[in-house]
Amino acid sequence: MKKRSWAEPYKIKMVEPLRMLSKKEREKAMADAGYNTFLLRSEDVYIDLLTDSGTSAMSDRQWAGMMLGDEAYAGSRNFYHLEKTVQDIYGYKHLVPTHQGRAAEHMISRILIKPGDYIPGNMYFTTTKLHQELAGAKFVDVIVDEAHDPNSEYPFKGDIDLNKLQALIDKVGADKIPYVAMATTVNMAGGQPISLKNLKAVRELTKKYGIDIVHDMTRVAENAYMIQQKEEGYQDKTVAEIVKEINSLTDHATMSAKKDALVNIGGFLATNDPRVFEEARNMVVVYEGLHTYGGLAGRDMEAMAIGIKESVMDEHQKARVGQVQYLGDLLIKSGVPVVKPIGTHGVFLDAKAFYPHLSQDEFPAQTLAAELYIDSGVRAMERGVVSAGRNKETGQHNYPKLELVRLTIPRRVYTQAHMDVVAESVIDVFENAKNARGLKMIYEPKYLRFFQARFEKL
Ligand code: F0G
Repeated sequence: MKKRSWAEPYKIKMVEPLRMLSKKEREKAMADAGYNTFLLRSEDVYIDLLTDSGTSAMSDRQWAGMMLGDEAYAGSRNFYHLEKTVQDIYGYKHLVPTHQGRAAEHMISRILIKPGDYIPGNMYFTTTKLHQELAGAKFVDVIVDEAHDPNSEYPFKGDIDLNKLQALIDKVGADKIPYVAMATTVNMAGGQPISLKNLKAVRELTKKYGIDIVHDMTRVAENAYMIQQKEEGYQDKTVAEIVKEINSLTDHATMSAKKDALVNIGGFLATNDPRVFEEARNMVVVYEGLHTYGGLAGRDMEAMAIGIKESVMDEHQKARVGQVQYLGDLLIKSGVPVVKPIGTHGVFLDAKAFYPHLSQDEFPAQTLAAELYIDSGVRAMERGVVSAGRNKETGQHNYPKLELVRLTIPRRVYTQAHMDVVAESVIDVFENAKNARGLKMIYEPKYLRFFQARFEKL
């Protein structure tokens, strides 16, 4: 059969010019930023793969929706559109909008957690875990072992290990476990999906013990696309149908709409439980704003409602995830060590394998992100020992098995040619890896240190 390529299901109507500094200027910019890519100025970045969060290009329909913002303090028309969209597309009954995901995480943690509780999860996300801890819980990782192995080709590395979950229930008792934190997809594992087979089993087990499931649905449509591609029995289902099925197996959801839902700002808490809804509606007024806007403008809620509908279209996900896989395949073909299989929102470089001569105390992933920026102006993000923070009891660094650099692809923003440029730079940095020196941390903030920590070259 003749080769038939796919292409993006859109054309470009507006462009944003990029600028590229000289290598000398990049070296200075990186040193000025304390070798932390979060502290670079965006203007000094050529291709920005820091995050897929809030960086999507909105469609002409979303921009048109922005003009339909009903900026009333209470009862905005756009809130009702968003509420109906969340009910129709996602299947959750009650909606409390928030300005982004972590605000919803804060509320659900405060509502469901008692001090001394345990929260099992399929790995963790930084803000999610912090809010669980601030509410008095201890987080317990119950993801399958394959998720911690960058070379395992297991297709559903987001799956929960039912034996680990059962062992925790046996050890601490179900009454100390208010909920299981389940994320679609698992960001810190490399954007890896959970399977429906596994989620169904988790639902069965939790039901037996009266334990809820809180769904971090930040990238649920991407997860659904992976199920359609890889899980037996789902090839003929649409992404939209799979999204609904995933959500139907859970009780509450937190959403960072800055990812899947294609908006630059926004999030929500959704629940099927009227008591949780009641409490969240009360709480949101204290921290975010009235329950019909939750820290958002009417126009933001309109763009979100439209973005949610676009995000569950099969052809959108095919191009979105397809672009990520394209970059991943280029790197794999060149022998660059990456987390396999390639996930949905980015390609994760294995910094331990780049720099076997650096110990985790020399921050290999932080080093790699800095080297990549200096090489080509591509901005990536550390996901290793800096992101993992310190152990609350011992004060020592947490040493995660995975020491990664994330090349995160914004949705609908860059072209295949940009991906080629990125791959060439990564390959160059890999070929020069043995010359890299590590870093020393010279400033460490108290919370979520990776955002603002500063480093010096060793
Ligand atoms: N959950 C997941 C899985 C996330 O990836 C994020 C954000 C959040 C929750 C928090 O949402 O930022 O809207 O408050 N991830 C971004 C990232 C920051 O770059 O991966 P938020």
